[in-house]
Amino acid sequence: MMPSFPVIPRSLVVGCWQLDDRSWRSQSESDIFRAIDTYLALGVTTFDTADIYGRSETLLGKALKGRDCKVFTKAVFFGDEMPSSSQVRNKIDNSLRNLKRDTLELLQIHWYSPDLDFSEVFEQLNQMREQGKIQRIGVTNFNTPMLEKAIALAPICSNQVQYSLIDRRVESSMQPFCQQHDIALLPYGPLAGGYLSKKFVGVETPPRESDHARSFYYSSMIKAHGGWTPVQEMLTVLKEVAQKYKKTMVQVALNWVHQQPGVVAVISGLTLSRERMSLNAEALEWQLAPEDVQFLSEQSTRLFEQPGGIYSYEQG
Ligand SMILES: NC(=O)c1ccc[n+]([C@@H]2O[C@H](COP(=O)([O-])OP(=O)(O)OC[C@H]3O[C@@H](n4cnc5c(N)ncnc54)[C@H](OP(=O)(O)O)[C@@H]3O)[C@@H](O)[C@H]2O)c1
Repeated sequence: MMPSFPVIPRSLVVGCWQLDDRSWRSQSESDIFRAIDTYLALGVTTFDTADIYGRSETLLGKALKGRDCKVFTKAVFFGDEMPSSSQVRNKIDNSLRNLKRDTLELLQIHWYSPDLDFSEVFEQLNQMREQGKIQRIGVTNFNTPMLEKAIALAPICSNQVQYSLIDRRVESSMQPFCQQHDIALLPYGPLAGGYLSKKFVGVETPPRESDHARSFYYSSMIKAHGGWTPVQEMLTVLKEVAQKYKKTMVQVALNWVHQQPGVVAVISGLTLSRERMSLNAEALEWQLAPEDVQFLSEQSTRLFEQPGGIYSYEQG
């Protein structure tokens, strides 16, 4: 039987790419452990990481051992050469060791090269699922033809994709496909790395932040969708809606993503601020009225271009 997507308490998943101090501002281990304790105390008990996020898996393993929580990780297959079966097995075993877990609740596959056939790898993952090393198989950044192929090889329960008021490429064909096949959408980047927040209102150009992935990852995304001027207009719209609900702009941006069809939970990156953690968790516990969801969608459509499908320009 197809394993269903796990229930996520409070619908917020804590993104832990932020623990990779090669891409994000370096944070001390004690600050990270304190933040994780705070999330757990707030009832936010699901964490997203990847084998390629530096020390992220290891820190989560230390912080979460024996705690009542879920960890979603990724196996990322870079390069133009087919991984051998021992490489695939080692990847999964490393993640289990780093995370100090007997089983992976969700293993998400990121497959870079469209020219390489992933069939054998999925067959191997299926066997690992039967052995209990993996509970569920998901994918990330798969486009629709890739996902169509993958579902014939393994029970795929989710696709982790970038989704925000700026980047809505998922809507062209992926979202209806996932709904049709009962595959959960797990959005990341709902705040465009933090650009969709009060801090950037009226800022003329996005500042260079060499120690923050916002600067290299989400700035290029914004360029591809029409640039900084429409982002400023979107912030004005968010401010207007936030005032109406007496919520913050970030809460409205998160809530809009959460209400899109097929979205089961929203991944937003770990923050050390207790106030932000609490606001982000609360952001998914009420609902924008349908007319406001529609208003935000219309404004987004007016302001931003949607070039290609999921992960199109990232693949070059
Ligand atoms: N599958 C993939 O290819 C892929 C790619 C990217 C990310 N991800 C996953 O998705 C996760 C989430 O994505 P993301 O973190 O890039 O996106 P995000 O949620 O759009 O941005 C997170 C950033 O927004 C800022 N922020 C958070 N809460 C805020 C608040 N209440 N007010 C103002 N600013 C706030 C923080 O930055 P500051 O506090 O530093 O300003 C935080 O680092 C990652 O950690 C990772 O697990 C996956």
